[in-house]
Amino acid sequence: MGSRPCRELLVAGLEKLEYRGYDSAGVSVVADGHIDSVRAVGNLSNLRAAVEATSNGGAVAVAERTATTGVAHTRWATHGRVTEENAHPHNDCSDRIHIVLNGIVENHADLRRTLEAEGHHFSSETDAEIVAHLIERHYRGDLTEAVRASFSELRGHYAFVALHADQPDLLVGARKECPLIAGIGDGETFLASAIPAFLAQTRQVMQIENGEIVTIDADGIRITDAEGTVVRREVEKVTWDEDAAEKGGYPTFMMKEIHEQPDAVAETIADRLPTDDDVDLSDVDLDDEYLRDVGRIVIVACGTSYHAGLVGRYAIEEWARVPVEMDIASEYRYRRPVIGEGDLVVGITQSGETADTLAAMRLARENGAKVLAITNVMGSQATRDADAVLFTRAGLEIGVAATKTFVAQVAAMYLLGLRLAELRQTLSPERLSELVVDLKGIPSKIEETIESVDARVRAIARSHYDQRFFLYLGRHIGLPVCLEGALKLKEISYIPTDAYAAGEMKHGPIAMLDTSTPVVCVATDSPVLEKVLSNIEEVRARGADTIAIATAGSGRVAEVADQTIEVPRSDWILQPILAIVPLQLLAYYIARLNEFNVDQPRNLAKTVTVE
Ligand code: AGP
Repeated sequence: MGSRPCRELLVAGLEKLEYRGYDSAGVSVVADGHIDSVRAVGNLSNLRAAVEATSNGGAVAVAERTATTGVAHTRWATHGRVTEENAHPHNDCSDRIHIVLNGIVENHADLRRTLEAEGHHFSSETDAEIVAHLIERHYRGDLTEAVRASFSELRGHYAFVALHADQPDLLVGARKECPLIAGIGDGETFLASAIPAFLAQTRQVMQIENGEIVTIDADGIRITDAEGTVVRREVEKVTWDEDAAEKGGYPTFMMKEIHEQPDAVAETIADRLPTDDDVDLSDVDLDDEYLRDVGRIVIVACGTSYHAGLVGRYAIEEWARVPVEMDIASEYRYRRPVIGEGDLVVGITQSGETADTLAAMRLARENGAKVLAITNVMGSQATRDADAVLFTRAGLEIGVAATKTFVAQVAAMYLLGLRLAELRQTLSPERLSELVVDLKGIPSKIEETIESVDARVRAIARSHYDQRFFLYLGRHIGLPVCLEGALKLKEISYIPTDAYAAGEMKHGPIAMLDTSTPVVCVATDSPVLEKVLSNIEEVRARGADTIAIATAGSGRVAEVADQTIEVPRSDWILQPILAIVPLQLLAYYIARLNEFNVDQPRNLAKTVTVE
């Protein structure tokens, strides 16, 4: 909101947010008592072309061009297909209220039902459009109060900004978890998901905190809490350059994405755990009867996605007692596997474009199996090669070494395991509810883990970054964690690293140990912790330097390992989603100490589309 024509400013701001990933975009500006909105699927040049097309000549075009208040958005689809109708900004029935939203409205289905019963007509499949109609329901001439009333009815992770055709010099925003920040310019104010959007215009920023509502009008900026009490907030000066801004102030995209893991899990489980005692996978096109009767599950994937599948196998077999077969996709597709009707094949691929995983999924489908894709990218090939899709919601991942997409995939596997258990009644309602509540607590426990282990991991990295070989050991549900931890180290530090099922040690690999070998042991709580402790003693007896990942409060591990890094307590099956964090950080700091480019390691591509 300002005095300069804003549409070009807004589209230029979106261009600075392209690194966040998107599949469609839109801009709405208000002038002369009406709102002009343009949306387009694909990249911003499509939006620019659409804007161009609408503003050739005539009075309206002039008004649009001179409009000084507007909102703009790049969409990373989570609810609803990649279409122009689902692109933001979204409007209410009167087309006088427009909103842009980042995040997820968890209770969108309930609210939609109520609003439709009141006569509201929806024009998109999105959860976000709810907000425009809620504001419409509460609007009595004061947009801030209408937003406040709507805010109190919404549940989820989101930040949104609204404008009204009747109040052209006004913007009102609200924040719950998802980022929202104000840019204070000279006679103009920006609201954005991230600083790069307005960094070229101003370096004066004001943080909008969780649960706050921000009003921008001719008098300036006003922040109030959910009850309407005014909140004082300092203006800060941003010193970052554009590159640092894109990384959210972190030195690399990988570190930024490690810190985005709590949100990635929170958004992936968001509206799928509507209550504390059931799992809602209604956005996944697999009916309950089919899931209740499925005879076997086969998981195919590559790299990090394969490791997420391995965690999923333990959870599904433990909770739902369905037999799960795992295979590396590049092996599975040439194995002439015995597969057919009655089998559910789960293809896990964050990019949705990995050739071997796609081929394995197609092979399964050709043989009559049903295929479920677990992917992070709407519109990707995997969504077309599958009968059903369970989307993770980690947002675009730029760092080649997968981090936030891994924890989001593991969360998706937990959702699938719990839903199968619920439908097959293989868990008591109390046990199911216990696990649902525990899973809901994981995002904040990941946050706690990142904060609590960082300094310790940094110190361990400093004392080991020049090692020429690492061995990772894990057992039972700790095995996929050690495989993933080792892959991270290999990918970004290029140090030869082996990862092994701890029980296999004495059958060969133990020969490689000498007094300097660092051995990373995943020793979180599990039914085989005793065994893991004796494996740690086994390698220590050969003088190796043991670094153990343990569950907080289980002092036993610290008694046997040279160094122990603790992660917060949770049900043992959920421990992998926490235990991977210190291993991501260990690989990260070792690579940084060796001055390697962690975001773009040598010889590696983010998406492997070749056979
Ligand atoms: C992981 O850090 C690597 N980037 C790589 O192993 C990756 O997991 C693998 O290529 C699979 O990618 P996908 O999940 O996109 O299919």
